[in-house]
Amino acid sequence: MKKKFTIRDLAKEAGVSVTTVSQILNNKGDRFSKATQEKVLALRDKYKYVPDFNARNLILRSAKTIGVLVPNIANPFFGTFIEGVQSVARKEKFIPLVFSANRDPNLEKYYLSQMIERSISGLVIASATMTTDTINEVISFNDIPYILFDQNHTQQGDRVQTSDFLGGQLAANHLLDLGHRHIAILTSDNPSENLNHRMNGFKKAIADHQLNFDEVRDVIQAPLTTTGGYQATDQVLKTGASAVFAANDEMAIGLLRGLHERGVKVPAEISVMGYDNIYLDDYVYPRLTTVQQPIFDLGVGATEMLIELINSDNNEDHVQSFPVKLIKRDSTAPYKGN
Ligand code: RIB
Repeated sequence: MKKKFTIRDLAKEAGVSVTTVSQILNNKGDRFSKATQEKVLALRDKYKYVPDFNARNLILRSAKTIGVLVPNIANPFFGTFIEGVQSVARKEKFIPLVFSANRDPNLEKYYLSQMIERSISGLVIASATMTTDTINEVISFNDIPYILFDQNHTQQGDRVQTSDFLGGQLAANHLLDLGHRHIAILTSDNPSENLNHRMNGFKKAIADHQLNFDEVRDVIQAPLTTTGGYQATDQVLKTGASAVFAANDEMAIGLLRGLHERGVKVPAEISVMGYDNIYLDDYVYPRLTTVQQPIFDLGVGATEMLIELINSDNNEDHVQSFPVKLIKRDSTAPYKGN
């Protein structure tokens, strides 16, 4: 299929921004020079470019709305991320519209089409189920700038990211340094790419210590939620491990409750660590050791990048990387033996 000639192509050829083209094509280009106006109109005629629905969206970037698609808004991780988004949006006079699609691809597509109809200026996508196909078909085709982050971070395109592999290694090395040799993993039953990287980093560090890792016995899968962690408690205990690494803090917090209800002492009898550093980690008992992702900063970075993209005609992919860091609290302790 012949690639559609978009407003971005037109802007590139004219050597001006998309906003400039959009305004000229919508009779709001008085502030631009005669020469620029004529160049844009001539290119429109040359390529028979029709300012359709999508082009209309672009001029309406003056509506200044940013769509934010997250998998689970109930998770404080995404709440803090959205706070970061808001802090930049407010300064730049954009309004964020937030959607949580609960990993339902149909709901996701519905939200996407609704956002496009409402003339969204750009998108931040953290959704696990958004495939490259959807991005190409729906988003790129409609010429909507977007930034990827978190759960679909290995796809092409502008994105903010952290190193999940390194984060997994940090977690494993912390537990190994404490003397633990039999460590269980509590991860999602439907892992996204970043979680797989996280767990691969973890396993690599274990392998680097020439320790055997029993995939069947030591990897427990459950929903990536507090309930998932809570319900997996018996399975975790069955491994006989002296420490457990949970794929995120929510799972770890659910597990803490399950262990407490069974009279299992953390960290005296089992060390527990999570991942993310959500604000609740300081308020559970014992306070949760974790790997920090700079969640608020990720929201800030993603939004700044997006707004820059909306205001420019730069077509190169940009990747902004953020650091991960071990946060030691009270839920992990040295191995004491049996
Ligand atoms: O808690 C949400 C988890 O899902 C985080 O670890 C984040 O990286 C996301 O993938």
